[in-house]
Amino acid sequence: MKYNKIGIVGCGNMGGAIYRSLQSRKIDVIGFDPYLDPKKAEGMILESDWSNFQKKADLIILAVKPAEVSKTLRSLEAPKAILSVAAGIDTKILSSSAPSGSKVVRIMPNLPILVGKGALGYYGDKELYESLKEIFSPISYCLELSKEELVDAVTGLSGSGPAYVLRFIQSLAEGGVASGLTYSQALELSIQTVIGGAELLAKELEKNPDTHPEVLKNKVTSPGGTTIAGLEELEKNKFPFAIISAVKRATERSKELGN
Ligand SMILES: NC(=O)c1ccc[n+]([C@@H]2O[C@H](COP(=O)([O-])OP(=O)(O)OC[C@H]3O[C@@H](n4cnc5c(N)ncnc54)[C@H](OP(=O)(O)O)[C@@H]3O)[C@@H](O)[C@H]2O)c1
Repeated sequence: MKYNKIGIVGCGNMGGAIYRSLQSRKIDVIGFDPYLDPKKAEGMILESDWSNFQKKADLIILAVKPAEVSKTLRSLEAPKAILSVAAGIDTKILSSSAPSGSKVVRIMPNLPILVGKGALGYYGDKELYESLKEIFSPISYCLELSKEELVDAVTGLSGSGPAYVLRFIQSLAEGGVASGLTYSQALELSIQTVIGGAELLAKELEKNPDTHPEVLKNKVTSPGGTTIAGLEELEKNKFPFAIISAVKRATERSKELGN
């Protein structure tokens, strides 16, 4: 790694998960979060003095709430390399708030980063991209974006997407309950079905990057069988349209909130 010590400002859900991942890989990391519940801070090295923290950390990961970002950056005493995961705060705001000469990258992560299965998009100073990938790729799929506007699309898809998937799992389970399974049986089957479907597609894509989800779907859809009967209901109830609209609306909402 180009940077010797990674500093994490804000060690809550997001910052804490990144901290634990770096710690488990023996990467030198230090946190700054005067407000963190001591129980959650167990095993973390936290610097309590902001000036000392800045002297020690040569790359900073900013994981405070969006409302705290500008104030935090304005209080930096010298230019820094900064990776920000704050939703809705663009590189213009990051650069203008941080001391001149700082390098900034904006990252849009999602919640499954907490279990090492995140998906994120990033945009900013290319000089930081290698370090970003070293830090995040063990816990997240990382997509380099060609322009900053696409951060809104990432927000609408993978940022908000875990909620859509959870809603889908819940509906799948309710369908199982309506068909006679207990809720816990149905929930477990639903979770495994989503994990299995996603892993199957991922493995096929590794073998053949041109694999289309429809090709796999057709393999499990026999003529006149149960799956086509179920799929017909999804089409009738505009399931594909609902998902596409959800991503587009969440993308628009991300733009509205950023403006
Ligand atoms: N969680 C997600 O799924 C998710 C997804 C995408 C992006 N993000 C972004 O990630 C960032 C962090 O979210 P989170 O869910 O991890 O929030 P969080 O759990 O509230 O963590 C933020 C931590 O930073 C502390 N803090 C506040 N001001 C600080 C300061 N000036 N210096 C140091 N620490 C400070 C907070 O203390 P207090 O609680 O006292 O404020 C809290 O412990 C946000 O900007 C969010 O937009 C989160």
